[in-house]
Amino acid sequence: MEAAQSTTTTTTHVVVQEPEQKLDRSISLTQQQVIQITLTGPSLVLTIISIIIGIQILQPSLTCTLIALAPIPWIIHNDYLNFLSLGPGGTPPTFLGYLKITYLRMFALSDPYSPAKPTDKIYPATGCYQRAHSWLPKRNGPRPKIAGIAPQRQINQSGCPEMYLTLRTSLENLAKRYPDNFTVGTSCFEKKGLALFAKDPINSTCRGEICHVHHSDRSMHMNLHPDDAKIVLEKGWGERHPLARGGWMKAYVPREFIMIYAPRNRSELEVVCRIIEAAGFWVVGERVDIKVEREPLLDGAAI
Ligand SMILES: *[C@@H]1O[C@H](CO)[C@@H](O)[C@H](O)[C@H]1NC(C)=O
Ligand SMILES: *[C@@H]1O[C@H](CO)[C@@H](O)[C@H](O)[C@H]1NC(C)=O
Ligand SMILES: *[C@@H]1O[C@H](CO)[C@@H](O)[C@H](O)[C@H]1NC(C)=O
Ligand SMILES: *[C@@H]1O[C@H](CO)[C@@H](O)[C@H](O)[C@H]1NC(C)=O
Repeated sequence: MEAAQSTTTTTTHVVVQEPEQKLDRSISLTQQQVIQITLTGPSLVLTIISIIIGIQILQPSLTCTLIALAPIPWIIHNDYLNFLSLGPGGTPPTFLGYLKITYLRMFALSDPYSPAKPTDKIYPATGCYQRAHSWLPKRNGPRPKIAGIAPQRQINQSGCPEMYLTLRTSLENLAKRYPDNFTVGTSCFEKKGLALFAKDPINSTCRGEICHVHHSDRSMHMNLHPDDAKIVLEKGWGERHPLARGGWMKAYVPREFIMIYAPRNRSELEVVCRIIEAAGFWVVGERVDIKVEREPLLDGAAI
């Protein structure tokens, strides 16, 4: 219902066309154990025969080496399938893309829940929450499971589809209300998913991108001032991107890059919008107000 409505009323403004009918489908981002080999009857027989032939024909030491190395292609195969099952993202879903991620994975942050060490040269000097003397509630329950690097996706605790649509509408309405300040489009970081951009950013991030929402798992990525990131991480609303180390890795994502978990209900969406406001503050340098709205603004109805 929701989906049909938003397609008819916002066709002129929705820049990101995504298959809306897939929305109600429950999320099928599954990850299997990397070290898991299932042998069906025929392959079990084949394996036993090859071991016997190996022992007869080859040297025992060579046979042992072959047996020891045999699981490696399987492990790579499982790991590659896990990469593919995360769906589309910033890296092409090919074996070459997989190899690149496998290389980058060696440098991933070991603890994505701890904030980055503060650096002295930072502008704005304090975060959005300290300035506004505001706070965030603690997120209920355990953190969801997060997998992958690029794409990085949420595996369980799937967000609410209705809240996902409400969030998209709220971002689109913000851009319609203040067309001189904001715009929506396809994410610059991921080349997929709806993103909110500032037209006049003080911190250019990626073409002024404030945040983007993932269509598959309904989680988000954004950049936060280190002070605000610390609060968001402590209250359990998200975690740092594994490549957000700074240094040479800035070529991939900024040091402030953070994943925010998919909102599960209206009250969580309210909190998520306050986190996006803080992301807006980092990019724009001033207060951004996001209204949680289900109904799309009509064109020309700005202000
Ligand atoms: C923008 O971000 C960088 C780090 O990515 C930070 O050092 C800088 O202080 C921020 N602010 C401005 C105005 O560039
Ligand atoms: C929203 O969802 C969370 C997690 O499931 C739950 O703890 C919280 O009570 C819910 N809030 C409302 C208002 O339903
Ligand atoms: C999601 O996965 C995490 C980590 O495996 C686990 O601790 C948590 O209980 C799971 N949550 C749900 C709702 O299944
Ligand atoms: C829009 O931009 C103008 C000029 O930079 C600024 O004065 C105004 O406060 C901004 N409005 C919002 C809602 O951010």
